[in-house]
Order: sequence, then C-alpha cells, then structure tokens
Amino acid sequence: MSDDAAVRIERLLPDSPHLARVAGWQHDQWGQLSPGETLATRRASLAAECGPSGVPSVCVALQGERPVGTASLVADDMSGRDDLGPWLASVYVLPEWRGQGIASRLVRRVEDEARAAGIERLWLFTPDQQALYARLGWQEQAWVPYRGERVIIMERRLAGA
Ligand SMILES: CC(C)(COP(=O)(O)OP(=O)(O)OC[C@H]1O[C@@H](n2cnc3c(N)ncnc32)[C@H](O)[C@@H]1OP(=O)(O)O)[C@@H](O)C(=O)NCCC(=O)NCCS
Repeated sequence: MSDDAAVRIERLLPDSPHLARVAGWQHDQWGQLSPGETLATRRASLAAECGPSGVPSVCVALQGERPVGTASLVADDMSGRDDLGPWLASVYVLPEWRGQGIASRLVRRVEDEARAAGIERLWLFTPDQQALYARLGWQEQAWVPYRGERVIIMERRLAGA
C-alpha cells in the first residue's frame, strides 16, 4: 500500500480545512437528535471541541488529504448524565470506508488520548454498535431511554492511566 492509500489518524484542529466536512457528517448523522441544531451551530460546537490535548479532542482519519472518519473525546455527551464522563462520542466512518478497522483505530486513538491525560474511565452510548465496542474492551452498563430510542451506556476502564 502506498503512503497515499494508507489511512492515518490525526488531531483535528479548529482551523482545519476538514472541519466543515466533519461537521457535515455529524449534522447529517445526528442532527435530528439535537432540536434547533443547524450546520452552522454544529460547526461551531465541533470547533470548540478541537482542543490541543486531552478533553476535548477530535480525531480524524485521513486517506491522503481526504477525511474518511472521525471520533471525539468530550466532557459531556448525554444530557442528564453529568455523573458520567468523559465520553467517546461521534464515531463515524464514511460508508465506502467501513469494515476495514478504521472506527476501531479511531476508538483506540481516543482511548490513548484519554489515558495520556490521566483519565481512568471513559463512557459512550450507542443504540446498536455495542458489538464493535465490546470487541475493543468496552463493557455494557445499562440500557436507558434517550431522545426517543433505547441506547446502551458502555464503560471502558483504561489500564495504565
Ligand atoms: C459504526 C461505524 C463507525 C463502524 O465503522 P467501521 O470503520 O466500519 O468499523 P470497524 O471496521 O472498526 O469495525 C466494523 C466491522 O469491520 C470488521 N473489521 C475490523 N477490521 C477489519 C479489517 N481490517 N478488515 C475487514 N473487516 C474488519 C470488524 O470486525 C467489524 O465487524 P462487524 O461488521 O461484525 O461489526 C460505521 O459503521 C459508521 O460510521 N456508522 C454510522 C455512524 C454510527 O453508527 N456511529 C456509531 C455511533 S455509537
């Protein structure tokens, strides 16, 4: 595989040319869950999540200069659950790039970021991707109703934090 074809994971910075694209994916995938959200408000909140390290941070998977996936480490992701956090959030891979381990690499990268920041436990919620996260060492905690669907909260204990 040439270097151009290889997918690498990088930190997304607030002034990145890829920010609008990543915000567009998030808006298309999850915008309906946030009443009042527009592409512009999603872009602004994503830029605010692009911290220099630790929480918050946003990762992007790049093939050459083309973004193909993303994942975030954020303080809050589930309203009403301020008792939990930080969260792995917004894991997304372009449809034509799925099934190649890119989401798994993004999750690992977010875990590494959290571990480096001294975080011992991470949380996520998902309506249907629990098998993917379980394979990566995440544990199912509880099914809860959330914004009109049932989701499962999962926890990851980070050894060596
Ligand atoms: C969920 C999602 C992020 C998974 O992305 P992905 O890059 O396909 O994930 P991975 O490749 O790491 O793992 C997915 C599958 O590929 C398999 N796989 C992993 N590495 C692989 C490789 N090198 N070659 C072939 N298959 C591989 C995994 O075993 C897994 O199998 P499954 O189909 O039985 O689950 C992606 O489908 C997506 O963006 N969905 C829409 C948004 C979404 O639901 N996000 C999650 C919110 S909680």
